Amino acid sequence: MRRIKTFGAMVLLISLFLIFFYSTLHLETTYSHKAGPEDLLKHPSVQVQDSDVKTSKPESFITPHPVVYNVTISDGIRQTISQNAAFWNRLLYSAIRNLDKGENPLGGDSDWSRCRGTNLELLQTNVHDFNSYPVLFQDFLQGMNCRTPPVLINQPKKCISGKEMGENQTFLLFAIKSTPGNFERRQAVRETWGQEGKYQSGLRVHTVFLLGTSPEDDPNLSPLLSFEARHYGDILQWDFHESLLNLTLKMNMFLQWTLKYCPHVSFVFSGDDDVFVNTHALLSYLQSLEPSKASQLYLGHIISTAGPLRDPKSKYYIPLSFYDGPYPAYAGGGGFLISGALLQSLYSVSQVIPFFPIDDVYTGMCFKAVGVTPEAHAGFQTFDVKEQDRENLCIHKDLILIHQRSPQQMKKLWKGIHSPLLTC
Ligand SMILES: *[C@@H]1O[C@H](CO)[C@@H](O)[C@H](O)[C@H]1NC(C)=O
Ligand SMILES: *[C@@H]1O[C@H](CO)[C@@H](O)[C@H](O)[C@H]1NC(C)=O
Repeated sequence: MRRIKTFGAMVLLISLFLIFFYSTLHLETTYSHKAGPEDLLKHPSVQVQDSDVKTSKPESFITPHPVVYNVTISDGIRQTISQNAAFWNRLLYSAIRNLDKGENPLGGDSDWSRCRGTNLELLQTNVHDFNSYPVLFQDFLQGMNCRTPPVLINQPKKCISGKEMGENQTFLLFAIKSTPGNFERRQAVRETWGQEGKYQSGLRVHTVFLLGTSPEDDPNLSPLLSFEARHYGDILQWDFHESLLNLTLKMNMFLQWTLKYCPHVSFVFSGDDDVFVNTHALLSYLQSLEPSKASQLYLGHIISTAGPLRDPKSKYYIPLSFYDGPYPAYAGGGGFLISGALLQSLYSVSQVIPFFPIDDVYTGMCFKAVGVTPEAHAGFQTFDVKEQDRENLCIHKDLILIHQRSPQQMKKLWKGIHSPLLTC
């Protein structure tokens, strides 16, 4: 009896040893895979839904990346965004862990033609109620790793033009989120606050409109867009579908574009095509800044106590199993300012922070990771001014940004605040 027991114990020990031995071998091989589902599943708060997970490793996670990831993530982001069971929160912490190990933080296959394909099973495995998410939200999740849409219309010379080289650099770049069909709004912006050229003290201002593509069933606007792009030289277009949930991708593409084609810009204004901007007031404000502040600017209408909306009918619905916790303070996406000096760090941390479906919240998260606090400015009215003040030119003369105005109102306001007859 005793012998049998000893023998049993030995067999057990040997098998344990063998299991251990094989598992280390296995670990070594899986470690060369980047940020995969197995990494998520190691997380203590993650429930394993389906035991098949370990064997069905999506292909997208086995491409090795020889890149060195040289990004610093501020501690602020860990303090603000908690580590919990929600999918996005898990992805964030998995990315930070990968970064600490010197691995590709987000993993996945970023190749545009393949990035969506292999992702569905991973999502259904890791997000228990994935199938109950709204269709567009499911679509967003499937494309979360897709960050390299082809460029359709570019303006590589936007910030340099031969005869002006050596002259003053671009002081302010207006980056205006638009959609292909919004011709009238773009034209109103060009004729008013988005006019390119030299302003007070020779400050150089440039404008680009950021576009994706219209749905396939829509009338084909590309010949008109090409004409517009040639005529005005201010259209940037990428080959992804316009949608609210693709605005984060749009912002990311714009950052990438600016670092490449307009790297010395002093300030960037990111905003919508239906806001009104008092360009002269904006430039005077920017010119008045101390250099230390001018290089650390993330300024606008700051929303500091927001969190996810849980009503599935809301435009900004975020399921609890996707993101859990409040949002970091962020500048409302209608219009905000960023120092050119921060663009590189902002873009670098975006390579670690997974895409979030709301673009201005995402920008706030990235700034948190950079370690820059958003600053409020009372001149940014992204929720508009009081009803009775909406025609009041004196009120508008002192503001920097108002959301929202029609093309006709824009022209009227612009003319009004510049009228020599206006005494206020
Ligand atoms: C450059 O900007 C300064 C003010 O910032 C201005 O005085 C100067 O005239 C500008 N130079 C050119 C060549 O535009
Ligand atoms: C974002 O763009 C991609 C590429 O065109 C598209 O497949 C996807 O459906 C879009 N996402 C949403 C949420 O509309």
